[in-house]
Amino acid sequence: MAKPDSFFLTTPIFYVNDAPHIGHAYTEVAADVLARWHRQAGDDTWFLTGTDEHGQKILRTATANGVEPKEWADRLVESSWKPLLNTINISNDDFIRTTEPRHEAGVAKFLQKLYDDGHVYAGEFEALYCVGCEEFKPKSEIVDGTGEFEGQKVCAIHSKPLELLQEKNYFFKMSAFQDRLLALYEERPDFVQPASARNEVVAFVQQGLEDLSISRTSFDWGIPIPWDDAHVTYVWFDALLNYVTATGYGANDEEFARRWPGTHIVGKDILRFHAVIWPAMLMAAGLEVPDHVFAHGWLLVGGEKMSKSKLTGIAPNEITDTFGADAFRYYFMRAISFGHDGSFSWEDLAARYQAELANGFGNLASRVLAMNAKYFEGRVPEPGEELAADAAIRELAASAATRADAHIEAFAIHESIAAVWELVDALNGYITEQEPWVLAKDPAQRDRLARVLYTTTEGLRALAVLLSPVLPEATAKLWFALGAKETLGALSAQPIREAGVWGKLVPGTTQHSLAVLFPRIETEAKE
Ligand code: ME8
Ligand code: MG
Repeated sequence: MAKPDSFFLTTPIFYVNDAPHIGHAYTEVAADVLARWHRQAGDDTWFLTGTDEHGQKILRTATANGVEPKEWADRLVESSWKPLLNTINISNDDFIRTTEPRHEAGVAKFLQKLYDDGHVYAGEFEALYCVGCEEFKPKSEIVDGTGEFEGQKVCAIHSKPLELLQEKNYFFKMSAFQDRLLALYEERPDFVQPASARNEVVAFVQQGLEDLSISRTSFDWGIPIPWDDAHVTYVWFDALLNYVTATGYGANDEEFARRWPGTHIVGKDILRFHAVIWPAMLMAAGLEVPDHVFAHGWLLVGGEKMSKSKLTGIAPNEITDTFGADAFRYYFMRAISFGHDGSFSWEDLAARYQAELANGFGNLASRVLAMNAKYFEGRVPEPGEELAADAAIRELAASAATRADAHIEAFAIHESIAAVWELVDALNGYITEQEPWVLAKDPAQRDRLARVLYTTTEGLRALAVLLSPVLPEATAKLWFALGAKETLGALSAQPIREAGVWGKLVPGTTQHSLAVLFPRIETEAKE
């Protein structure tokens, strides 16, 4: 057997200055859907997420709350960030914290290598810094303050005053990689996706790259620079390295060779770090650059990017407590084109829940299983002759599965779900046209009835597999009710790229009753 493709997928590691909101959950879910899909396609999948715990932002938050930064980070990780993964059903294989020894050791090793190889030098520096971004701001993101910040320079993203920092720093000679980066974007047009993100990155690098300040001396909440412990490592330099320290860099060569390079899913706010600084760092260290950097859009609330600092954050469990994790996952993946901004609204969520999940998919599953119970003693029917209408469903299942997989390969999660949903809609239409309840009244139509219900039951079998990355809870219940587990094994073991192949359910297999997958919800209270 050929070696399976390696698929290493990451989310950003999130700052622990505050609890997560639905923007962070959005990134986690998107990455999780991709990871589950690839895992089920048989790829050698590894899905990493984690937390970014050093730097001034965390230090200031901890200090303001009267605790040591490590204690603050421990508290937030345990009370908020790890629980988030359960709230929305994330299947990560690893969770890295930048305060872990495995990370700190890897960062020190990487820095020392860059230093030894002449990519780092000491220099004086004075520039405007945004603690919200943890970044010296480029001119294009420095604007004049208004209102209470009149007369000051503020960050275009955070609208908060910038701080003038003047320090002796170590610098990474990033400018030396400008041409190699431009060649990379040119040779591998899918390195940065979507195309709008790629264009932005190319334009940024074409303007000219400066060297990057990678150390700080005015505070000590960070990883010491190995050759000069008066300095700590710049938080972004530290954070980006999580992707390799978590996969064995400098510690486990075999693991590292198996996993790296990876694919990064990030929000467009941190595109430049991942598509410019990070590949330059890797080039300097003689390591492979990532396979892909995909930048998704922002969740907007009232037309603005939802954010902790602007107090517009919605906690994920505000949604899951009412609608459940599956609905959360479905809604954000289906309603927003992955790669574009999208507005969240309770009305849209409630409407899609009712129309698509409850009436579209849930009701289809209930009806089919109820008819099998009523007309075939709760067993998979032994089908009669296939007619054109049945063949059309079989062919659609095959084509929807193929298209869904191609869309996932292209990071078009919303298109992938839309392709699968063609089968949901077609099956509902097929039942309406075939009227199995009418066929059931005529003993001469017994074979025809069996064929119609076999077709719809097989359709549900295909849907359970194809929707399992998005709706893991509902599809697990459906899989059990279909009686598929007994003959085909666990849902997670079904090869997703073969989901559209017909005739897998074994006639005569006993089925089980199915509780309502998406119960009716009263949403009056949510406004
Ligand atoms: O930037 N819409 O962490 P962070 C969509 N620690 N996604 C959003 C969002 C919104 N309104 N708000 C946040 C950091 N996100 C660094 C990353 S990686 C080596 C270090 C998501 O806590 C989105 O993924 O500020 C965004 O890129 C990320 O949260 C920023 O998280
Ligand atoms: Mg941020």
